[in-house]
Amino acid sequence: MRFFFLALLVVSTAVPPLHALDKQPAGAYHARRVALAAELHGGVAVLFAAEEPVLDFMPYRQDSNFYYLTGWNEPGAALMIVGDAPQASTPRAYREILYLPVRNLRTEKYTGVKMDAATPDVTEASGVDHVESMTELPADLTRLVASDHALATNLWTQPDSTAAAALINFTATTLGTNEVPQPHDVTTLTMPLRQLKDEGEIELIKKSSAASMLAQRVMMKWWVKASMTERAVAGAMTAVWMENGCERPSYAPIVGSGINSTILHYSANDRTMQDGDILLVDAACEYSMYAADITRTVPVNGHFTPRQREIFNVVLGAQQAAINAFVAGKSTINDRDRHDPNSLDTVAYNYINTHGKDLHGQPLGQYWLHGLGHMMGIDVHDPGVYPVVLKPGMVFTIEPGVYIPDEKLGVRIECDFLVGPDGKLIDLDAALPHTADEVEAVMQGK
Ligand code: GLY
Ligand code: MN
Repeated sequence: MRFFFLALLVVSTAVPPLHALDKQPAGAYHARRVALAAELHGGVAVLFAAEEPVLDFMPYRQDSNFYYLTGWNEPGAALMIVGDAPQASTPRAYREILYLPVRNLRTEKYTGVKMDAATPDVTEASGVDHVESMTELPADLTRLVASDHALATNLWTQPDSTAAAALINFTATTLGTNEVPQPHDVTTLTMPLRQLKDEGEIELIKKSSAASMLAQRVMMKWWVKASMTERAVAGAMTAVWMENGCERPSYAPIVGSGINSTILHYSANDRTMQDGDILLVDAACEYSMYAADITRTVPVNGHFTPRQREIFNVVLGAQQAAINAFVAGKSTINDRDRHDPNSLDTVAYNYINTHGKDLHGQPLGQYWLHGLGHMMGIDVHDPGVYPVVLKPGMVFTIEPGVYIPDEKLGVRIECDFLVGPDGKLIDLDAALPHTADEVEAVMQGK
């Protein structure tokens, strides 16, 4: 027994590997915390890590904002950022603290070794100026508010966090405050920061794009055949992502053949593909927490029918029209009104509505319902208040589609774009087939 505890001690004093994700240098996360602090105007932000998933078979994924600010990939942690407040009744200077839960050696038998505030070198490993035990968080916040009651109205947390609500309630109770202060939504401050990607983030997105493109190519070349199931295609693509260092799909893969190609977020993937079907494959992966989002539409037998090709070309033309119209700092994305001439949605819609017809001779605009694109980053749908004006450093999708249930024909073409420092649009998926001829060439092994 004594030997057991000794052995446990030896294991438990070593610094465990933090995680298997590619992390950016500590300075990148620190810069984001400082940038957030500048928006707090003397306030205090407390963010909590994501909780463990409820179902055992679901892998852990860190809260996106928490990861953006820390690169920390463990549950049970919290981050406090104290903004500069030189004029406060008790003046405060910038301070950042990572709170870690106390290690539980029994749980670690199931989860693997964790770090806590007592782990040697934990401050260096975390890259945060101060690391404390989670048990200190309520007392630290209470002390701060007690020293400056105005702070109660300048607290920032994630809006849906039960831990944050409990912390604020506890602070109010401890201070004997009748009214529990309503914290502000910290994600409104992280959103504009997250929209502008730094170089390290762009490198990670390029890695998720590379693995996602490879999987799309493997899909076209090897896996799309009559009598194959949609799910087998999703599985084969998942294997490619994981072989290439990605941890998971960045959303449930959409592999829709025939009528399923017209269902925007179809994910049952349980149909067997038939000769002559169209197949819409909206599937991509996440590399070290950064998403890609790619859709290609292909003919199951490797040859588009004339009608499939006609609709494909309308969608491709709409995407190209939006690309051609793009002007950094002026163009917007995801404008559902489709009236503003600066909106790329308007450009794509006008193209679709003036090219091609349905079987009743009607224009095709009615068959495209969703927005033209969205911001992309740590989340496949990164936060944005739409329509967003597109600026250098932003990454977003352009994904027009036409979905005609009567013809069992849905086509979406989706690529991810970066606005370069010079304002030029960079297609991150340029290496993947775009045109109908290019798709057929890969499918036919040319
Ligand atoms: N790729 C799924 C979506 O953008 O909604
Ligand atoms: Mn998308």
